[in-house]
Amino acid sequence: MQILENLLVDFKSEITSVTKVADLLNLKAKYIGKQGPLAEVMKGLKDASPEEKRTLGAKANELKTAIEDLVASKMVELELAEINENLAKDKIDFSLTDSVLDKGLQAAGLHPVTIIQQEIEDIFISMGFEVLDGPHIEDDYHNFEALNIPATHPARDMQDTFWFSDKKHLLRTHTSTIQVRGMKERKPPFRFVGPGKVFRCERTDASHEMVFHQLEGMMVGENVSVGNLIYFMKTLLTEIFKKEVEVRLRPGFFPFVEPGFELDIKCLICSGKGCSVCKHVGWVELLPCGMVHPNVLKSGGIDPEKHNGFAFGLGLDRLVMMRYGIDDIRHIHSGDLRFNSQFKTF
Ligand code: FA5
Repeated sequence: MQILENLLVDFKSEITSVTKVADLLNLKAKYIGKQGPLAEVMKGLKDASPEEKRTLGAKANELKTAIEDLVASKMVELELAEINENLAKDKIDFSLTDSVLDKGLQAAGLHPVTIIQQEIEDIFISMGFEVLDGPHIEDDYHNFEALNIPATHPARDMQDTFWFSDKKHLLRTHTSTIQVRGMKERKPPFRFVGPGKVFRCERTDASHEMVFHQLEGMMVGENVSVGNLIYFMKTLLTEIFKKEVEVRLRPGFFPFVEPGFELDIKCLICSGKGCSVCKHVGWVELLPCGMVHPNVLKSGGIDPEKHNGFAFGLGLDRLVMMRYGIDDIRHIHSGDLRFNSQFKTF
């Protein structure tokens, strides 16, 4: 009986220092396993009197149950500690910046097209413009018809694209689709920009991609002039390049503007001397623009007798090239980390 009572005291003192599940199971086996002291006591019972058998047997069972209960509650304690430890290790840090830096991923940053897009959005927001979005998958009406490019118009050839098998839907070729949607949802005066991805089925070279980015802009009101258009374009380019850049305006044809212009920037890769990016002419076509055609205003539900406006479609990837001195547009979406890691914003 004394042995049994001492066993419980010893077990209680040993269990307090256990910190691992495996050690706990070993301790349990040591006390109440087949080779343990309790089994020894039970074996000795065969020579005991019936009265002793009854009291010692009951005591042994009581001891076994007490040890099993202590093991069970210790087990819960250890498992909880383990879960908490793992949770602490796997903690998710939503403040991307810290977790990126902690893991030593020094190369992380925003993509240069995103950097430029956000900057331009900020510039236009500061001039009272809204920022609108539009779908990548468009219908013929929003991409062509509503922009004064009917089905048989040769201007469709300038923007070949990827059609869906229903022959009605396509991947938008320009962000001018946002003009149509934007006009329908508002009443003049209004001004907005609409950035996004555009798609064209064309041969790639140093300045042409099949998937690239544009930022559309539109301002409609009373007596909007070409002077207003030039003012906004020059403000944009001065803010982006942080210096006066040389620009030229030449006539350009787009069915959705009249008159239409091409605003070119002197090539910043070769300083106008001629290179593969500017196709050896010294100027890069960056910002086509013009006064919105009356037919386009009409498709947006606006009376061209009362209101007029300007629109432009900025090529974001080419702007990125000019700003960072990138000599081939194909680097931009190559996914090459040697390229991407040069743009660290964190
Ligand atoms: C348009 O897409 C007209 N929607 C722009 C516009 C809007 C004109 C409003 C007037 C009023 P364009 O096809 O020229 O126009 O493209 C606009 C700009 O996108 C170009 O100046 C150029 O910077 C860029 N761009 C055009 N094609 C590519 C290409 N394949 N790869 C990269 N950038 C391109």
